[in-house]
Amino acid sequence: MITLLGLAFLSLVAANPVIIDRSPVTLPVALKLNATGVKNIVERDVARAKALYAMGKGNRLQKRHDFHTKIENQMFYYLAEVGIGNPPTTYQLIVDTASSNTWIGNGRSYVITPTSRPTGSEVGVSYGSAQFIGNQVLDQLILAPGKVIANQSIGVATDSVGISASDGILGLGPVGLTLGTLFPAVDETIPTVVDNLFTQGTIDAHQVSVTFSPSNQISNVNGEITWGGINRDKIAGPVGFTPLTTASPSNAFWGFDQTIRYGTSTPILSQTAGIVDASTTLILISSDAFTRYRNATGAVLDFNTGLLRITPAQFANLQSMFFTINGVTYEFTANAQIWPRALNEVIGGLPSFIYLITASIGAPTGQGLDFVNGFVFVQRFYTVLDTAGQVGFAETRDTRSTVN
Ligand SMILES: *[C@@H]1O[C@H](CO)[C@@H](O)[C@H](O)[C@H]1NC(C)=O
Ligand SMILES: *[C@@H]1O[C@H](CO)[C@@H](O)[C@H](O)[C@H]1NC(C)=O
Ligand SMILES: *[C@@H]1O[C@H](CO)[C@@H](O)[C@H](O)[C@H]1NC(C)=O
Repeated sequence: MITLLGLAFLSLVAANPVIIDRSPVTLPVALKLNATGVKNIVERDVARAKALYAMGKGNRLQKRHDFHTKIENQMFYYLAEVGIGNPPTTYQLIVDTASSNTWIGNGRSYVITPTSRPTGSEVGVSYGSAQFIGNQVLDQLILAPGKVIANQSIGVATDSVGISASDGILGLGPVGLTLGTLFPAVDETIPTVVDNLFTQGTIDAHQVSVTFSPSNQISNVNGEITWGGINRDKIAGPVGFTPLTTASPSNAFWGFDQTIRYGTSTPILSQTAGIVDASTTLILISSDAFTRYRNATGAVLDFNTGLLRITPAQFANLQSMFFTINGVTYEFTANAQIWPRALNEVIGGLPSFIYLITASIGAPTGQGLDFVNGFVFVQRFYTVLDTAGQVGFAETRDTRSTVN
């Protein structure tokens, strides 16, 4: 019997960080599920997608008093531990694939050491799930023993909303998202952690890779981030790369084009732009695509969870979804398409139902952000975010896992 209390703060660190070629740095990542107060998982993800849409369109935090808009916490988030300063203070930072600034001070305070260099600027970011404003400092950031980034721009929060149980955020998004985050305004981006790792020669490839295993037992959940390459031990096939999309606002993020079909021949989503975002929980698709998926699966909308729901008999007939990205097709099995049944009650569902993890993004195809391949996608496909202008996906040993 899994209790809500037991599920509230579950974390597990990947057990064996693997040493790999090309001097990448693998950081264990603690995944957390915060089910407290979850009313509607779909509303939460759609709110994030709307905020990302506005952010991608260049609608950043404009003035200090824009700041207080309450946005709910993410349900799944993952924490990486970094050291800042010399001697270093350790911080647990939420890893975010759709933002690019790094900031601390939400939980544990910033500690001034001889390596601290305040710039006198303020820095502020409005996220899908949170907002903060604070003072910019340049300091050293330590990812792993011997892997030190000098002169990293770090926001030290004076005010933050929507973040709890972490000390701040480590941004893995493209550097363009940092434009307009400094006050007084400058027309420059701020090098991200990945940028600095690369330009300072700490990693050889301007890449960061993310992987998680699917699980219905929280104690099995684990993940890792590899900075500067791909952990070959984690993939079970070639990495298919696709260029980043030019369509706005997906082009502000890890955006690319894909199509989705259901089964052998039912088109769901026509070729269009969207993003991969491991900090969104579900698969979100445009409203017309969602209608086709609902029709194809025979599912009904469940008002308690906001998700589509099917019967065990329908599940037995559920066909795979196929995501085609730059000519490579990725099979998303029936098992991948459902919420882990052991966790139904955590999201307000009933144990006897089967819930689908694809939801509507709330707008028809043609918005420039017509899908979000969220965390549930990253659990099935190894994801490579490459600043050279591409994203890559590969099968893992877990791609066809029947764990849900
Ligand atoms: C340190 O970083 C800041 C902002 O990221 C940049 O403006 C400055 O040129 C950097 N200084 C050095 C010595 O790299
Ligand atoms: C979990 O989420 C609830 C509701 O959104 C929030 O009040 C609480 O602070 C969160 N707890 C953690 C540990 O993030
Ligand atoms: C709904 O699905 C049926 C087959 O299950 C198909 O014949 C019909 O065209 C679909 N309608 C829409 C609007 O997609």
